[in-house]
Amino acid sequence: MSEGPRYVTVEDYLPAARAAVPSDVWDYYEGGAGDEWTLAENRRAFDRWMLRPRFLRGAGSPDTSTAVLGASLRFPVAVAPWAYQRLAHPDGELATARAAGAAGTLMVVSSTTESFLEEVAAASEGPKWWQLYVAQDRGFTEAMLERVVSAGFSAICWTVDFPVSGLRHRDTRSGFVMPIGIGASDYLFDASLTWDDLGWIRDRAPGLPVVVKGILTAEDAELAVQAGADAIVVSNHGGRQLDRSPAGLDALPEVVAQVSGRVPVLADGGVRRGTHVLTALALGASAVLVGRPTIWGLAAEGERGVAGVLEILRSEFENAMALTGCRSVDEIGPALVAPAP
Ligand SMILES: Cc1cc2nc3c(=O)[nH]c(=O)nc-3n(C[C@H](O)[C@H](O)[C@H](O)COP(=O)(O)O)c2cc1C
Repeated sequence: MSEGPRYVTVEDYLPAARAAVPSDVWDYYEGGAGDEWTLAENRRAFDRWMLRPRFLRGAGSPDTSTAVLGASLRFPVAVAPWAYQRLAHPDGELATARAAGAAGTLMVVSSTTESFLEEVAAASEGPKWWQLYVAQDRGFTEAMLERVVSAGFSAICWTVDFPVSGLRHRDTRSGFVMPIGIGASDYLFDASLTWDDLGWIRDRAPGLPVVVKGILTAEDAELAVQAGADAIVVSNHGGRQLDRSPAGLDALPEVVAQVSGRVPVLADGGVRRGTHVLTALALGASAVLVGRPTIWGLAAEGERGVAGVLEILRSEFENAMALTGCRSVDEIGPALVAPAP
């Protein structure tokens, strides 16, 4: 019988997570849109790069810390906003907030926690961004933003890739419906949004930076910067919106080139390894977000599981930095990667 730890990689949480939730909830969490090509691409994209290690640079104990929009992060991995965490574990978002805070990193909190956003804000000291979906009822969104500002969130992360939901066939087949009473009031998304609405959001969250999440092209990156975005998250929503859209990692270089340092660029999708974090940073990301690994941790073991997942990613990232000769995050650059054969 094995004497080693139960969870060595983040994927080691999968079996326990799967056993902990009903199959329709599991499909909601794990699934993507259409043929799930984009979902699979998010993982495959990392296999198209290899790392070019450097040695004898005194990088034995690297400093993994960084900062994004004034938030200090112990390592450049933040928790992505994901909906309805109480379906995974009764402690839901409160457990995730505590684990992210203890790990010294940032949590992006989904709009779907609207009904108890103050509780999530107060659950830990760690930095938190509010992920925003703008509702058709602008009065509702205004009131929500007022609460978000007074609860102490440090940025608004406006998700723009959701004019309508993607085609989630797993959910159609299982008959999965959004549960009532575990988060958001029943609100309809505004499908008529344009870049002009960024100013509308900014006016209702005075003093808070606005991050635009869901960008996949240089064209939209330019429009986001021109509209006044303070940061960009390159993301295809975990493969859950438009199938056949590119992997976040594949879209990252064109966005980074277009933005050319005017604002920080973050990325997500398929990050499961410290080497993935390093690859994304080498291609120009300031930090990455992780979604499903934190779902697995939360479902398997609540707060302890999310903490375990984040610690695995932190220690793998530290190891990858040491083995590629990076003493600090600002030494991570394009020379570290090359296309894989
Ligand atoms: C179950 C689930 C729910 C999600 N809910 C939201 C959400 O409410 N708002 C949002 O901006 N993104 C949402 N996302 C997308 C994530 O923020 C993130 O972009 C994606 O999960 C990253 O890919 P990964 O899961 O491969 O790490 C959700 C993702 C999943 C898997």
